[in-house]
Order: sequence, then C-alpha cells, then structure tokens
Amino acid sequence: MKAAVVTAAPAVVTARSVPVWDPLVRIFHWSLVLAFFSAYLLGDDGGSLHQAFGYTVLGLVAFRLVWGAVGSRHARFSSFVPSPRRLLAYFKDMLAGREERHLGHNPAGAAMIVALLLMLAGTGLTGWLQTTDAWWGSEAMEEVHEVLANGTLLLVALHVLGVLYSSLRHHENLVRAMVTGRKREE
Ligand code: HEM
Ligand code: HEM
Repeated sequence: MKAAVVTAAPAVVTARSVPVWDPLVRIFHWSLVLAFFSAYLLGDDGGSLHQAFGYTVLGLVAFRLVWGAVGSRHARFSSFVPSPRRLLAYFKDMLAGREERHLGHNPAGAAMIVALLLMLAGTGLTGWLQTTDAWWGSEAMEEVHEVLANGTLLLVALHVLGVLYSSLRHHENLVRAMVTGRKREE
C-alpha cells in the first residue's frame, strides 16, 4: 500500500509546469497578431491607419531581433534557430512520426519564425518605400508589397496549422502556453 503512494509522487512532480516564454515574448506575439491583421485588413486604402499598423509591425520585428540576441533563454535565436541539417533531420523524424517534443521552439517552428520575421520586414519595408519620393505611386512596388503581404498571410496559416499539429502530437496546448508563458516540464 505504502509503495503505491511513493510511486505516485513522481508523476505529480514531472507534470509540473515551468516558465518558457517571458512576458515580452508574449506581449510581442499577440501585439504582432493584432498589428498584422489590422494592417492587412486596412490594406486596400493604404491610408494613415494602415501605415501606423504597418510601422507597428516593423517596430515589433525590430524589437524581436534585439530580444533574440539579448533576451531570456528560450527567446534567444541561438537557442532555437536550427542548422539546415537539424531542420532536415526533424522533418525526417516528423514523416516517421517520431519527432521529439521541445520545451522551446521545435526546429520546424523555429524555421517558420525566421521566415515570418523576414516576410513581415519585407512587407513593411515595401510599404514604406511607396511613401518615398523614389517609389511614390509605383505600381510595381505596390504589387511587390501585395505579394509579400499575401505570402505572409499564407505563412501565418501554415504557422497556426503547425502549432495545432504539434499541440495534438504532444498533448499540450501551445496556444495557452503563448498566453501563460508556461509549459509542462517534460
Ligand atoms: C499574424 C499572425 C501571426 C504571426 C505573425 C505570428 C508569429 C509568431 C512568431 C514570430 C513566433 C515566435 C515567438 C517568439 O519566440 O518570439 C510565434 C510563436 C507562436 N505562435 Fe504565432 N504568429 C501569428 C499568429 C498566431 C496565432 C493566431 C496563434 C494561435 C492560434 C499563434 C500561436 C503561436 C504559438 C503557440 C507560438 C509558440 C510556438 C512554439 O511553441 O514553438 N500564432 N508566432
Ligand atoms: C507589415 C505590415 C503590412 C501589411 C500586412 C500590409 C498589407 C497591405 C495590403 C494587403 C495592401 C493591399 C494591396 C492591394 O490590394 O493593392 C497594402 C497596400 C498598401 N500599403 Fe501596406 N501593409 C503593411 C505595411 C505598410 C506600411 C508600413 C506602409 C507605409 C508606410 C504601407 C503602405 C501601403 C500602401 C501605400 C498601399 C497601397 C494602397 C493603395 O493605394 O492601393 N503598408 N498593404
């Protein structure tokens, strides 16, 4: 009888949650979601509100680049950006249905984060270029801006699908983790 009590204890300990995403990462993430969709939905007029949300996206991306260098453990790029070889190995494991759970970003999620940050920067930059003397009224630049904005939207859809897939695979709610900052320890 006593032994049963002792063996039950570690199960409680391993289910403990630990802090993973610091408050700035979480505020960054949900502000980015809000700013991106607001800019996207107001895209058609390209007016001052659209531009304000677009600059907010650019500011958030700039902040994230700095935080990726000096931020908390799981926020640092050095802790999650994978080498091509590691990324490929992870995809192979995924296909075989044996990919490991990661406390921070998994290699596929990490690659998507890099892609999202680049595309967001490109979209914001080509938006801003349309306000400069050199590109004012340029239809080509407007076209590039639109293609980048739609490309980003596509990546966002894949990103959310990846989050849902990974949540199901490892029986954890990753969306809630991006709200509370906490994840199951193992
Ligand atoms: C405009 C839309 C979105 C953009 C641009 C975006 C971008 C990002 C970025 C850059 C990160 C990395 C966070 C960091 O380390 O700083 C991230 C992570 C994450 N995002 Fe999003 N996201 C978007 C929408 C969403 C939505 C709608 C959800 C939920 C349904 C979501 C759930 C998550 C989760 C759970 C993570 C952590 C992934 C992990 O556990 O490795 N994202 N996202
Ligand atoms: C990074 C976030 C941004 C997103 C997601 C975004 C998205 C869009 C979208 C979807 C359109 C509509 C394209 C079309 O249908 O023709 C658009 C147009 C436009 N955007 Fe952005 N944009 C962003 C940032 C910016 C910034 C920072 C500026 C300028 C400071 C800007 C200026 C414009 C202009 C001038 C147009 C053309 C509007 C027109 O006359 O049809 N955008 N944007």
